[in-house]
Amino acid sequence: MPEIIENLTVDFNVPFVHRLRFTQDVFGEDQQVLKALLESSDEQPARVQFWVDQNVADGTPQLVNRIKQFANAHPAEVQRVGSIQFVPGGEEIKNDIHILERMLKVFNVSDLDRRSYVVAIGGGAVLDAIGFAVAIAHRGLRLVRIPTTTLSQGDSGIGVKNSVNLFAKKNWLGSFAVPWGVVNDAEMLTTLSNRDFVSGFSEAVKVSLLKSPADFEQICRDAGEIRNRDMAKALPVIKSSAKMHLDHITRGGDPFEMLEARPLDYGHWSAHKMEAMSDFTLRHGEAVAIGVAIDTVYSSLELGLDKAVAQQVMQCLCDLGFSLTHQTLEDVETLFRGLEEFRQHLGGRLTLTMLKAVGQAVDVHSVNRDNMLRAIEAVKAFAAARQHVR
Ligand SMILES: NC(=O)c1ccc[n+]([C@@H]2O[C@H](COP(=O)([O-])OP(=O)(O)OC[C@H]3O[C@@H](n4cnc5c(N)ncnc54)[C@H](O)[C@@H]3O)[C@@H](O)[C@H]2O)c1
Ligand SMILES: [Zn+2]
Repeated sequence: MPEIIENLTVDFNVPFVHRLRFTQDVFGEDQQVLKALLESSDEQPARVQFWVDQNVADGTPQLVNRIKQFANAHPAEVQRVGSIQFVPGGEEIKNDIHILERMLKVFNVSDLDRRSYVVAIGGGAVLDAIGFAVAIAHRGLRLVRIPTTTLSQGDSGIGVKNSVNLFAKKNWLGSFAVPWGVVNDAEMLTTLSNRDFVSGFSEAVKVSLLKSPADFEQICRDAGEIRNRDMAKALPVIKSSAKMHLDHITRGGDPFEMLEARPLDYGHWSAHKMEAMSDFTLRHGEAVAIGVAIDTVYSSLELGLDKAVAQQVMQCLCDLGFSLTHQTLEDVETLFRGLEEFRQHLGGRLTLTMLKAVGQAVDVHSVNRDNMLRAIEAVKAFAAARQHVR
């Protein structure tokens, strides 16, 4: 009798490469960096389409010409495909599913293939949305991100997640895809509003709390100067944060979040919910600042984190310029629904990363609501006292 039933279970690994570059002026004197990233094959120039966050283009009117000049200066290596495309900046692009369809249509009429490049220039929201379109077109074009906010240079631009919002839920529709490359260009940050400049540093605080006590101390020490946009202080923090994210993705053992925990989402269960509850008027980074403060105080109430650390985290975030209170904190019942949404997004049982000490994360699978409420109240009280002092 031939054997009919057969079960095959085979492990396999796929090698990935992540390319992260740091430049001062990618469309000026550092053009070589981008040129080198865009691999041309078969003696053909790389086919490249540029997509730009509208607010970035508005802030730098000469950007379009600089992109054209970059391509014109390297005809053997770079062939610009179609016109430069503009998309709305901020959460608007992630909230409007029709923009996704428009992006796919442009890729199609431009005949982009799996070896073509899309260079996306913009804030985290624009990068998330374009990244998703790029990931699903032909099952994946090559994506080069040029992040233009402090948040996307230190955090999201490095990551392997792409998404848009659906059903009023953050990042409901998305994919994991490793970008072809990421260029963190300091020049891009010059046109950011103060609000958006500050906003990114909550993710830097977050990753330092998880991974590096020395970085955490440095951010706290330099918080005032960072808030005043002293780039000698701000750029090293962004760079270090980017490198810690890169290390987490490439060496952390779980780039596609198959396991239970999502440590980089420390403070995010409430942050994502607050963003949605505020109708996205609250920036991601601003919500993360509050979320990190809440989970840090909670860690001190529930998990033995030194209470002085919790105070220091709140102080540091305030010194950076964050307000640690928001009206969404008044509706805790709705906020607590964020816990279930967070669980669903990952699947399986609820897993939240909390802190036992700076640099020492711990996973928990349930929440003591009384202590979480106390944590929320403590963060609000801290913020109110700060406002009083001002
Ligand atoms: N994929 C991930 O792993 C990941 C991680 C963290 C956050 N995110 C997502 O990133 C988004 C937030 O990104 P963000 O903080 O970069 O904000 P953002 O993309 O919302 O940008 C904020 C505002 O600044 C504008 N802007 C961007 N760069 C500018 C510049 N250089 N000059 C002038 N204006 C500029 C944008 O158009 C927007 O209006 C959220 O949607 C969040 O969910 C994703
Ligand atoms: Zn985040």
